[in-house]
Amino acid sequence: MTEIPTLDPPRRVLMGPGPSGADPSVLAAMGLPILGHLDPEFMRIMDECQRMMRQIFRTGNEVTLATPGTGTSGMEAAVMNLLQPGDRAVIGICGYFGDRIAQMASRTGAEVAIVTAPWGSPIAPEDVERELRAAPTKLVAVVHAETSTGVRQPVEPISKLCKEHGALLLLDCVTSLGGVPVEIDAWGVDAAYSGTQKCLSAPPGASPVTLSPAAWSAVQAREAPSNSWYLDLNLLEAYWDSRRAYHHTSPISMTYALHRALALVLEEGLEARWERHERNGRALQAGLEAMGLVLHADAEHRLPVLTTVRIPEGVDDGAVRGALLQQSGIEVGGGIGDLRGRVWRVGLMGESSTPGNVLYFLTSLGRLLREQGVAADLGAALDVAATRLDA
Ligand SMILES: Cc1ncc(COP(=O)(O)O)c(C=O)c1O
Repeated sequence: MTEIPTLDPPRRVLMGPGPSGADPSVLAAMGLPILGHLDPEFMRIMDECQRMMRQIFRTGNEVTLATPGTGTSGMEAAVMNLLQPGDRAVIGICGYFGDRIAQMASRTGAEVAIVTAPWGSPIAPEDVERELRAAPTKLVAVVHAETSTGVRQPVEPISKLCKEHGALLLLDCVTSLGGVPVEIDAWGVDAAYSGTQKCLSAPPGASPVTLSPAAWSAVQAREAPSNSWYLDLNLLEAYWDSRRAYHHTSPISMTYALHRALALVLEEGLEARWERHERNGRALQAGLEAMGLVLHADAEHRLPVLTTVRIPEGVDDGAVRGALLQQSGIEVGGGIGDLRGRVWRVGLMGESSTPGNVLYFLTSLGRLLREQGVAADLGAALDVAATRLDA
């Protein structure tokens, strides 16, 4: 007889670039009875998700929905629907995910102009302006929270330039939404998408998307439909709005999880949640520096939800991350792209952003570094972090 596999995932402390931990009530929501995707009760749940997504994006945008799939589905929906051959797009690349947007934009047949910054700094508005002056541009896209570098992109200066030059602004909010301030309407952002598994703290599998009236008009004005049928926003909107036209079988249990996770964000309150992420993130960063480590991202643009810390000279990246996982059950991320092998990426997102996790991680890392011969000052790290957490 062949053995039947059992499903028994260990419990981890998820402190990487995502997924983050989820509240038990979010996981429990996925076990609720399955409804049909056109059941009136499910329609009510979708409407409530839509209302909560608007509140969390801080927008009045009518077109606000969740695409089925991870954050990349929201990215692809936005890019594939907003661009077509003959358009010009300016894409900011200062990390791995800006590059992904640019790759997608190139596949639409649009002309793509790239603006870059070092991995550890945000895109400079002057560089975007130079490209906007060079030729009429339909879309500018930047990543708000670059998960590969731990950098927060200031949005308003770029939004202002977009308005002056008649371009739409697309913002990747995968790692920022629910963790750091996102103000879609106040900042004048035309299109944005996020993911469920970062600061919203649900499992991966849906992507909140929102489009301003101007972005929606641009989608309507396309000469040909989007090259993606599954992520055609016209078809998706016809399911999410009052027409309720079947397009795909909605991931029902994932939508329940999203509903519960959004409700938890609103129960905590956006400002209180931002404050929690800020306090825990700054305590972690102060602790790492007190330990003697060097943070990678520019100090003034450092995200609290994702910290990149340089791997000390001579330390075995894989051995440290492996030991963190096996001995302490802690997951952190390694570097990707230009930062491969150079940094660790430590996330404090959603449910994972707790004082306990900050102190536990510092303790575990400090001990491992000492084992590797690094003079890590664990006492100072814990002292500084605890003081920050108490403040
Ligand atoms: C900034 C950013 N954009 C896009 C994505 C893609 O999201 P997903 O992996 O959920 O498809 C990620 C994932 O880490 C991300 O961090």
